[in-house]
Amino acid sequence: MAKSDWTCSLSAMHEWESPDYEPSLPVSEKSNPLTRDIDRASASSIVKMLQACDAQMFPEETGSTYHRLLSDQVVTTLMEVAKRVELILKDPEDSLVILSGCGTSGRLAFLITSGFNRALRQLNQSPVYSYIIAGGDRALLSSQEAPEDDPKLGMLSLKKVCEGKKRVLFIGISCGLSAPFVAGQLDFCLQHPEVYTPVLVGFNPAHQARDEPLPGCTFTFLSVVQRMQELAKSHQAFLINPAVGPEAISGSSRMKGGSATKILLEVVLSAAHAAAFSHAPVAYNGILQRLRAYEKTLDVTYAQSEIITDLVEAAGESLRCGRRVCYLGWGSLALLGLIDASECNPTFGADYEDVRGFISGGYGELNNKEGPMTALGPEFCIAHEDFLHQVLPRLTDKDTVLLIYTHSDDVSKVVDLARRVREKTSNLHAVYHQTEEDTSAALQQDDISRLCLSTLKIAWLQGASVSASLQHMQWELSTKLVLNAVSTGAHVLKGKIYQNHMIDVQVTNSKLYRRATRLLQKVSGRPESQCEEALLKTIYRVDKLTLDMTSSDVITHTCTAVTRTKVVPLALVCLLTGCSLREAESHLERQPVVREAVEVWLS
Ligand code: F6P
Repeated sequence: MAKSDWTCSLSAMHEWESPDYEPSLPVSEKSNPLTRDIDRASASSIVKMLQACDAQMFPEETGSTYHRLLSDQVVTTLMEVAKRVELILKDPEDSLVILSGCGTSGRLAFLITSGFNRALRQLNQSPVYSYIIAGGDRALLSSQEAPEDDPKLGMLSLKKVCEGKKRVLFIGISCGLSAPFVAGQLDFCLQHPEVYTPVLVGFNPAHQARDEPLPGCTFTFLSVVQRMQELAKSHQAFLINPAVGPEAISGSSRMKGGSATKILLEVVLSAAHAAAFSHAPVAYNGILQRLRAYEKTLDVTYAQSEIITDLVEAAGESLRCGRRVCYLGWGSLALLGLIDASECNPTFGADYEDVRGFISGGYGELNNKEGPMTALGPEFCIAHEDFLHQVLPRLTDKDTVLLIYTHSDDVSKVVDLARRVREKTSNLHAVYHQTEEDTSAALQQDDISRLCLSTLKIAWLQGASVSASLQHMQWELSTKLVLNAVSTGAHVLKGKIYQNHMIDVQVTNSKLYRRATRLLQKVSGRPESQCEEALLKTIYRVDKLTLDMTSSDVITHTCTAVTRTKVVPLALVCLLTGCSLREAESHLERQPVVREAVEVWLS
C-alpha cells in the first residue's frame, strides 16, 4: 500500500509534530492522531493504521523539528558509537559492551546481545556482549514492572556484571527517557568515566526526559541526560534519541520504540563487526545503507497486509470467545514470539494463557544467563514439548496457532508439529521467511501450507548489499511487526482499547501510575486530584481512603496494585457514575468489554 492510498493524509502523519499537539506530553506518551479510532476499526483498517504508524519511523518529508532515524546527527552518532564497539572487538581483554533496559527494552537487549555473541562465537572470538533486564531473567518472559522504578537496583546490577572490567561501553535503553533503573546505571557510569562510556537510546528529545524526583537520589532522568549532553560534546557520552512518532496504542513502547531500538543497535553492532572482522571501516554511507535496509523491511512486510489481516481476525476471534493464541517458533523468531506474548499482560491486562509463545529447544535454545526457569510456574514453560503436554490436549478450532520459522530452520520439524496441531485445530497458520532463490524446502512447505488455514510467506531478495546476518535481522524485525500487529489487533478487536489508549493497563510502576491518572482525566474530564483519588480507591479497594493510604508514596500504591485487576476501568466507572466500588465491579461484570462499557456510561 502506498501511503497515499489510505485515508491517512500527510497532515495526519505529521500532526503530532506540531508544538500545539498535546504539548505537556513527551512524544513517547502522546496519542497518535492516525489511530484515534482504532477501537472501532476493522481488522484490515487496524493493519493499515499500524502500517502508517510504523512508516512514521522513516518519514518521507524532513524539515521536522525533531531528529529522526535518518537525520544527519543520528547517523553520525551511530558511527561514533560503532567505532567504540569496534575498538572493544579488536581488543576485548577486560572489556564489555552492555545493553540494559526494562520490559521490552531489556528483552531486546537480550535478543540483540545473544545474536551478536553468537556471531562472535562463529568467528572463534570470545563474547563481549552482556545484557541486563530490570527484574532479572524472569522479566524476559513475564511482566516485572516494579524493578523499573529502582535506580539503585539498576546501578548494583551494572556493577555486578562489570566486576573486574577495565573498559565498558554501557548502552542504556529507555524509549521514554524515563526508567529510573536505567537512570541509576547512567549516573553510575558518569561517576566512573575511567571505566564506563555511557550511551543512551530513547525516542524523545532530551528536554522531554522525565524530571520526576527519584527515591533516595539527587538526580532525575532529565538531569542525567543533561550531564550526558555536556559530555557528548567531547565524545565521552552519546545520546541516540531520534523521534519515531507516538505509538499506535498510546505509550506502548514495545511497538515502534522496540522496533527502533532493534534497528539502531543492530546497525551499530553490525557496522562494528564489519569494521573489526571484514575490513569494512565504519562509514556514514554504510550506516545509512543499513538503516535503509530496515526501512525496506517495513515495505516488504506490509506488502502482505491482507494475510496479516487474516491473522489479526483469527486471533481477535479467539480472544473474543475466551480462547487462546499460541506462537510456535524456531530460533530467534521464536524469541520474538515469546517477547510479544509476554507483553500482553502489562499492556492489555491479559492472562498469560491468552497469548503464549513457545520455542523449539526451550531454555537450551534461549540460553539466558539464569538458565531454565520452568520451576517458576507454567507461564515459564516455553518448550514445544510443554506446548504438546500442557496446551495441545485442550486445543479446539477456536484457538489460533501460528507456526513461525524460516527456511533455514529444520522445516521437517515444522511439518511434524503442524500435523500434530492440525489433529486438534484447523485454525493453524504459518508465518515464514525465505529468500526468493531458496527452493530447498519447497515440498515440505507445500505440506505445511496444505495443513494451514493461511500462510504468510515473506520472500526476500538476496541483494548483494545485504549480508546474511543483516537479512536474518530483517526477518526478525518483520516477524516482530507481524506479531505486534496480531496481538495488538486482536486485543483491539476484543475491546481492550478505548480510542487509542490501553484502558486496562496495569498500574504497576510510577510511569504507568501517572499514565493511568492522565487517562482517567482525559476520558472523564475530571480534575487530576479527583482522578487520582478514584485510582487510589480502586487500588486499595475501598470507598473511603484512609490517611495512611493518601500519605503513602507512589511506589507503595503500585506495589499494592500488582495484586489487582481492572484498576483503571473500575476507577473510570466510579468517576463517571459516582457509584460505589462494589457497584462498579458488578457493572463491569455485566459489560466486560471495556470500550463498550465506557461508551455506555459516557452516553
Ligand atoms: O513499565 C512498563 C513498560 O512500559 C514496558 O511495557 C516497557 O517495555 C518498559 O516499560 C520500558 O519502557 P522504557 O523503554 O521507556 O524505559
